[in-house]
Amino acid sequence: MFTNPLERSSNPHFSGDDSHETSQPQMESFPLSKNTYRNCFKTMGANKAADLLRYGKAKEGCISLGQGEGTRPTPDFICEAVNKALADGKTFYSFGAGSPELRQEISTYYSRVYNVHLPTNRITVTSSGTNAVHYALMSILEEGDEVVAVTPIWKNLIGITELAGGSIKEFPMVQDETGWTLDLDRLFETCSSSTKALLIVTPNNPTGWTMSATDVKRVFDFARERGIWIIADEVYGRCVHDLNRAPSFLDYADENDRLYVINSFSKSWAMTGWRLGWLVGPADAEDKIRDLILYENMGPPTFTQVGGIEALRHGEEFLASQKELWMRNLDVVMARLSKFPNLKVVRPNAAFYAFIKVDGDVDSYTLAKEMIDDVGLSLAPGAAFGHGFETYLRLCFAVETDVLNRALDRLEQFFNR
Ligand SMILES: Cc1ncc(COP(=O)(O)O)c(C=O)c1O
Repeated sequence: MFTNPLERSSNPHFSGDDSHETSQPQMESFPLSKNTYRNCFKTMGANKAADLLRYGKAKEGCISLGQGEGTRPTPDFICEAVNKALADGKTFYSFGAGSPELRQEISTYYSRVYNVHLPTNRITVTSSGTNAVHYALMSILEEGDEVVAVTPIWKNLIGITELAGGSIKEFPMVQDETGWTLDLDRLFETCSSSTKALLIVTPNNPTGWTMSATDVKRVFDFARERGIWIIADEVYGRCVHDLNRAPSFLDYADENDRLYVINSFSKSWAMTGWRLGWLVGPADAEDKIRDLILYENMGPPTFTQVGGIEALRHGEEFLASQKELWMRNLDVVMARLSKFPNLKVVRPNAAFYAFIKVDGDVDSYTLAKEMIDDVGLSLAPGAAFGHGFETYLRLCFAVETDVLNRALDRLEQFFNR
């Protein structure tokens, strides 16, 4: 029997509220602690979107466009290199901050694609982009430090910040007919003397909005002047539809700037299951990150890093083919959604998500659950991406076009009920 994901957070067994103590007699010398688990579990909030995703996946025949990954497998040339690495016995501990070869390859990649020159000591290979965010925040946040997050934002980034002790202040972008806008003057006003870091995802999940080079520079100058850290998640930096790459904060930073850039192999090279990413930081962060790695997982797997090298060295053709698919699918999504007067979506110029606004006073969790139950289609609820996005649904279109069309048939059926 499945737990109704919408009821989960009100269920005391899941709430993380440890006031429900056992009625067993307590031994005098070993009193049960009132704080069995960390307080952050009370404040982080349940991840209802993740519960819904699991709920949809467990339902037979349900098409899941709720997760941020495509259906194309990792290309053969990457897998073959790893098969060889395994056959060659690359199964021993690696270096904590990543293999010297992959760190060098990442540096070469930045020179080639970004025209940014990074010494390898500023690059740490991590066990996923998620893991890179974790290291970045763990290295700078003290309990209660304020982090201003531009929303809508991938929910996990909020969770990781709270896990690291930070306190999130959301700053929402606004949507009109032409697209998403980030009001920089208001963003700067929102930052206070207690702001430790600014958290920005560009290109953005879920909107596909990409910060312009001018705005990147303005934010960078502001943060530099105020001594605020920038945590820039650039995981979708190569997933821009009509450009080779998005503007990066690394275009402006030098090695002393308080900047962390997060990146990943997951999206551009279809390697979500590999859990491989990287972190670029200032020169003096290296030993702090190394300490964190030592007590976290002692570094990424040895053999998957060989796949990372292949992806960066030979992955451009594959990336181009993915972008072709995304753009073709985006045309399909835009054409079909335009027939629905109650659905609004701004054409994104990056990533592979349509962030759809549903007219009316709807609740995205309820809507997403009903969609799974009624027509077998799973989308991500907008509420998971921050306050103010409760009437949105996110659809991932990085799937084969026939699957997308079948999913859109179901969407049509749902809204025509
Ligand atoms: C903005 C953003 N950052 C990071 C990640 C996670 O990347 P990884 O698979 O490397 O952990 C995602 C995944 O959806 C994402 O959307």
